[in-house]
Amino acid sequence: MRPNRSLHLAALIACSTALATTPGCAKKDAPATAQTAQPAEPSAKAGEGGKAEKASADQAKAVVDRARLAIFAPLAGEVTAATGPATPAQVALGQMLYFEKRLSKNQDLSCNSCHMLDRGGVDGSARSSGHKGQLGGRNAPTVFNAAAHLAQFWDGRAKDVEEQAKGPILNPIEMAMPSAEAVVAVLVSMPEYVAAFQAAFPGQADPVTYDNLGKAIGAFERQLTTPGRWDAYLKGDDKALTDEEKAGLALFLDTGCMACHNGAALGGGSYQKLGAVKPWPNLKDNGRYDATKDEADKFKFKVPSLRNIAQTGPYFHDGSVQTLEEAVKLMATHQLGRDLDDAKVKSLVTWLKALNGEAPKELTAQPALPPSSATTPKADPT
Ligand code: HEC
Ligand code: HEC
Repeated sequence: MRPNRSLHLAALIACSTALATTPGCAKKDAPATAQTAQPAEPSAKAGEGGKAEKASADQAKAVVDRARLAIFAPLAGEVTAATGPATPAQVALGQMLYFEKRLSKNQDLSCNSCHMLDRGGVDGSARSSGHKGQLGGRNAPTVFNAAAHLAQFWDGRAKDVEEQAKGPILNPIEMAMPSAEAVVAVLVSMPEYVAAFQAAFPGQADPVTYDNLGKAIGAFERQLTTPGRWDAYLKGDDKALTDEEKAGLALFLDTGCMACHNGAALGGGSYQKLGAVKPWPNLKDNGRYDATKDEADKFKFKVPSLRNIAQTGPYFHDGSVQTLEEAVKLMATHQLGRDLDDAKVKSLVTWLKALNGEAPKELTAQPALPPSSATTPKADPT
């Protein structure tokens, strides 16, 4: 499985590049747990240290060995649920609900307020402001390609996008609705919504439920994938990336970033400790530990996707870093024990910018929303 493999790879790379004093690096030949489908190659490269780095700088004109790309994958148009593909009626309803401010207590916030679909799926703030301007504790990750992750939130506490979507509406510092019943009351007050739920969940006697709201929003989010030039390149079009971008890709592989940032989303596949090699300064958030209460999960976070990363700053779970350059430098130091000079950071960023892609415009635009009726509850600013 990918999570185990990533852990193992990370350990190999960390140990091969870090100072000998790094804890856990002593037993070099005993990579205890998982099997790895990517055996010695990445760590061997990284282990060559200076030599490998020099080689990669010379690689500007070189072709990247395609065998090394097997740890990535192109994006599909839909991240299909275990229950099967979404129907057009479910996606259409989910899109309405995603933009629906009347699902918040003061009718001033929708999912799109913090995950703007015309802005990379984020809000551009270090931490988002919810009901009455209250600040949350973490940075809002993008909703684009999120459905492809192994779980949702920085700590993975929701198993999928369907479950996740039911959280923010009832969260007192986000959309702050008092109860699931209050949400359903808003929806049933508008005949168009009742009809849309009936179309999305045919054959159900009472389709307007909070659970179905989560399913519809999830069905919509499963369409929010952003294929781009990177996918064309992965599928075999060598011209889809420039030579400079390929050089950055080679550096990403040689440096060891792909040990954690891999798969179709270049992330989202495992939980990893922030500060894997060198402790992260002032780390207050316990990360995955909050969800599992397992000591081993302290300071572990879901590895974020690097898709559209140039558009989704500020960076990290606390939004503490403004620029992509700074984020890349910190990653190399703390996750891999390597100090990258400015030219290498620039090269990596050049490649990362090639990971931008787009979801279909008809999905990211706000749809027409039903008018309120006489019985629709009013905004409550308290
Ligand atoms: C007030 C701002 C705010 C609103 C409104 C909001 N979110 Fe979020 N969202 C966040 C923050 C902050 C996080 C990260 C929280 C954490 O990880 O603990 C998040 C996490 C997520 C994630 C997880 C992504 C990942 O990579 O793990 C998804 C998906 C998501 N939100 C979708 C939604 C949907 C759908 C709605 C509407 C029902 C919504 N959000 C409403 C701020 C918001
Ligand atoms: C050992 C695993 C690991 C390695 C290796 C690693 N990362 Fe990360 N990366 C993470 C984790 C975990 C986070 C999330 C940390 C947080 O915010 O708490 C992250 C976050 C990031 C972010 C910020 C993403 C966001 O949405 O805020 C960027 C950019 C990034 N990594 C790039 C890189 C690059 C470039 C490399 C190689 C120099 C690299 N990473 C190596 C695990 C890793």
